[in-house]
Amino acid sequence: MASKLVFTPLRLGPLSLKNRFIKAATFEGVMPRGQVSDALIDFHTEVARGGATMTTVAYCAVSPGGRVHRDTIVLDSDRAAQLRRLTDAVHAEGALVCAQIGHAGLVANTLSNRTPTLAPSTRLSAPAMGLVRAATAEQLDAVVDDFGAAAANAVEAGFDAIEIHMGHGYLLSSFFSPKLNKRTDRYGGDTVRRAELARRVAERVRLTVGQSVAVTAKFNMDDGVPGGFWLTDSLPTARLLQSDGHLDALQLTGGSSLQNPMYYFRGDVPLAEFIASQPRAVGLGLRVIGRRLFRSYPFAEAFFLPLARQFRSALSMPLMLLGGINRLDTAENALAEGFELVAMGRALLRDPNLVNNFREETATEGLCIHCMKCMPTVYSGTHCVLRPTVV
Ligand SMILES: Cc1cc2nc3c(=O)[nH]c(=O)nc-3n(C[C@H](O)[C@H](O)[C@H](O)COP(=O)(O)O)c2cc1C
Ligand code: SF4
Repeated sequence: MASKLVFTPLRLGPLSLKNRFIKAATFEGVMPRGQVSDALIDFHTEVARGGATMTTVAYCAVSPGGRVHRDTIVLDSDRAAQLRRLTDAVHAEGALVCAQIGHAGLVANTLSNRTPTLAPSTRLSAPAMGLVRAATAEQLDAVVDDFGAAAANAVEAGFDAIEIHMGHGYLLSSFFSPKLNKRTDRYGGDTVRRAELARRVAERVRLTVGQSVAVTAKFNMDDGVPGGFWLTDSLPTARLLQSDGHLDALQLTGGSSLQNPMYYFRGDVPLAEFIASQPRAVGLGLRVIGRRLFRSYPFAEAFFLPLARQFRSALSMPLMLLGGINRLDTAENALAEGFELVAMGRALLRDPNLVNNFREETATEGLCIHCMKCMPTVYSGTHCVLRPTVV
């Protein structure tokens, strides 16, 4: 047994974490029409068996209009009953399980959803395939209610934690952005007003669940877009979230599924595979704008660390470092620098047993090569294309 910081326990809200490794949300792509499948349960039990202290069920929408597309879970009471099987299975493997909840906003595919979506300010959206109208104040009240209801359902389903999606250009993240949010009411204008919707959501989720589960947020440090949400906004916003006191931790991310997705992945751009995974019309469009949308960023180990350090020195609340963590020494050094947790996406897609291997000292780094060929598989069952046992 390794005597490393990463294998020391931690209290997070009401939770006792056995180590510091969290499986970051990676959309599983096995929820046909939003139903919980055996494949979804298997996906998470495998991660749980592999040693991570907590796995995250990716992107559960808080309402039908907030889905990414029609094969997305809506965290309603029916789904809560179905998800109980998943949370029981993860717990049986000795791990905890978190539900990521969100509203996709401008990233929602409204054709697939057959339901309109919402934006801070009216604008065209490629994923929505058309114009998305600015949400009214009443619609935003309903969004806050929906987050509360989804949080209650997550508790009912047996989740240990709730991660509010405040990143990647989804609805709450789009409200933070000075580029996307041109409102002049209480939800738009300066940094504080643009943070209002996310703060109301965090408050509602906490008031709904009390101290029964941990509540965290996946939070954008930098949209990776000129004129977007960046440190001058994101640091004060994080301070506001900290002083509100509703969140147990922040998971630090960046980028935008709407405007700059590769900023939060880093690595190769598998454009040909992505085009092949799309309906013909979308594929044709991607041939034209694909290289512009999927800008290329070289992979670097712990690529968000320079940004995340700004947050570590500005905040006292627990922080999760995310982004390109593939090595045991990276995780260990992150803890030595004061981050409480590390979150890993692709490293655990490549090898869900990696944390056990770290603990048993049979590996010091993962085998992910950042080819990003797992990304197009989100439409057919997310997996690492290099894993021989998965078809
Ligand atoms: C296939 C795939 C699907 C993803 N789906 C989600 C998602 O549903 N929600 C989310 O917040 N992030 C999602 N991400 C982003 C990851 O959570 C993480 O932010 C990103 O991959 C960087 O971490 P990593 O370098 O450890 O993979 C996804 C990543 C991958 C590779
Ligand atoms: S397909 Fe596998 S090796 Fe390639 S980026 Fe995804 S997890 Fe890593």
